[in-house]
Amino acid sequence: MSKRIPVIAANWKMYKTKDEALAFIFAVNEKVPARTEVESIICAPSILLNLLVKREGENLRIGAQNMHYLDEGAYTGENSPLQVKSAGAEYILIGHSERRSYYNETDETVNLKMVAAFKHELTPILCVGEVLSERESGATKAVLDQQLEKAFLNISAEQALNTIIAYEPVWAIGTGKTATPQMANETIKDVRAKVAALYGNEVADGIRILYGGSVKPDNIKVLLEESDIDGALIGGAALDPNNFLVFTEAA
Ligand code: G3P
Repeated sequence: MSKRIPVIAANWKMYKTKDEALAFIFAVNEKVPARTEVESIICAPSILLNLLVKREGENLRIGAQNMHYLDEGAYTGENSPLQVKSAGAEYILIGHSERRSYYNETDETVNLKMVAAFKHELTPILCVGEVLSERESGATKAVLDQQLEKAFLNISAEQALNTIIAYEPVWAIGTGKTATPQMANETIKDVRAKVAALYGNEVADGIRILYGGSVKPDNIKVLLEESDIDGALIGGAALDPNNFLVFTEAA
């Protein structure tokens, strides 16, 4: 199996003004590793996408945090895949737990967005994860299996291989309660096994699967030392450009 190129993705969520975003880009642009070594991605608020795309260096890539699944329509406040693509974003977060919790994102709309992402040549970063009660009741595998099965409906093996999956235990997001490297790795192995069941071993061996949930500079290394963790999707800690460089260097 060829080595999976690691991915470090920052999810800025609803943070950073235009000036703060520009300062971040200027601080990291020339310092991130070659994209052939590490895929370094900033998932920024839609209003900042075009600004960042115009200034991204050759080794830094820009993604969006959400989009509608229709190309256009009377959906006030939404962004279409056409608009995300035309803004220059290359990646799209789909199914983030905050979208599922606060904005009625469902497994069904996640799938529609996956199909729309490939239609518009956007690379999906598919977020899956369990809540604390599901972890504590031993339902994690069943929950993730269902999220994955529904997300990948009508998605080809080639498209699946080009998807990035982010396993984000909801109880670890923004809480400081990082999953242990062992727990994260075991769960990501289960995710990889589900991909194998859906598409076969070649796709399962090649797909990148990230961990997200309270990743910090002091735990990134032990997480990335695990066999099946191919990178990280990071929120709060990656708002700091110096931390972002620590993460990309650790990959
Ligand atoms: O998408 C990444 C995010 O949900 C993780 O947030 O602040 O726990 O790194 P944080």
